[in-house]
Amino acid sequence: MIRPTRIEVDAAAICHNAARLRELSGAEVCAVVKADGYGHGAVEVARAALAGGATWLAVALVEEGLALRAAGVDAPVLVLAEPPVAAAATMVAQALTPTVYRPPLLAALDALGRERGEPVAVHLKVDTGMGRVGVPEPDWDAVLRQAVAAEGVRVEGVFTHLARADEPDQDTTRQQLAGFDRFLARAARAGLPAPKWRHTANSAGTLLHADARYDLVRPGIALYGLSPAQDVDAAAFGLRPALRLVTEVSFAKRVTAGTSVSYGHRWSAPADGWLATLPLGYADGVPRALTNFGEALIHGRRRPFAGTVCMDQILVWCGDDPVEVGDEVVLLGRQGDQRVRVEEWAAHADTITYEIVTQLTARLPRTPAGQR
Ligand SMILES: Cc1ncc(COP(=O)(O)O)c(C=O)c1O
Repeated sequence: MIRPTRIEVDAAAICHNAARLRELSGAEVCAVVKADGYGHGAVEVARAALAGGATWLAVALVEEGLALRAAGVDAPVLVLAEPPVAAAATMVAQALTPTVYRPPLLAALDALGRERGEPVAVHLKVDTGMGRVGVPEPDWDAVLRQAVAAEGVRVEGVFTHLARADEPDQDTTRQQLAGFDRFLARAARAGLPAPKWRHTANSAGTLLHADARYDLVRPGIALYGLSPAQDVDAAAFGLRPALRLVTEVSFAKRVTAGTSVSYGHRWSAPADGWLATLPLGYADGVPRALTNFGEALIHGRRRPFAGTVCMDQILVWCGDDPVEVGDEVVLLGRQGDQRVRVEEWAAHADTITYEIVTQLTARLPRTPAGQR
């Protein structure tokens, strides 16, 4: 590594969080590691979550599942969105569990299962109110008829996704869970063998809704120790953030009061003092919205961003504290007794923790915590 900027991922925190989610839900844990493990590195996160007691992994794309297999991860992997029919054979060959909600994929998997003489295990996704993907209620009976007749397919899982589990208002969640129970009852009446895995709960469902947990929970953001919404505090559930964004001062100088810096001269030094330049910017995923607003930890103290966040550089006001090239800087995570939380960035940038961590770009190497 030439550049000192990196993301440090604490596998012990992920492992702890998986164990904690299992303990507090009383259900098995499907660790959601899509989008490169929410920016933390999918393979390392998958291994840590499995070590913490997760029994399933989930990804969004077949490609993400294949990457886990290529890295030697052999745990069950659920592909959450229905893949194109053309991917059916690859999924079966790689033992990736397909989510199914449209008749053509169910038919293709049925044919593959019959051909090989062993049913293909699938999870059926039903729409109970998210309205995004999943079998809509008017089609439930038709899909159940098809699934019951499909000798080449075994429906080992049935699931739905909650739209508003992170909100104080619980009516929608209650209605969705009632819809899910209605589907399960109809499935039993249609003659579908009871599915082993019934699941509805994302992180917010896992943390806040005991009735949503069923046999398996599917936490993503909580596995990373992050909050699913501004008023749901992951730390209050004993979850630990796993990621640090770390760099070093690349340039340091004293400036006089009134000196203006960075694009647009949107900031001027309030006094004579030290200004540090950091070698990262919005091309690494630091939101430009943190201009004049973000804070970095240097020498264990919070130091404010000075002026516009650039593509590859950020300036930080250090006041009377002399800084030197090479001093460690933490943009997210802990340094000494201080911590900058992903939740703070999300609030400043008017977004959610999910977007912050998934937009930390590939330019930042992911390294195990404490290795440098
Ligand atoms: C189907 C499904 N389940 C679970 C999750 C995990 O959600 P969260 O990160 O809120 O726990 C997602 C993520 O969007 C999802 O799409």
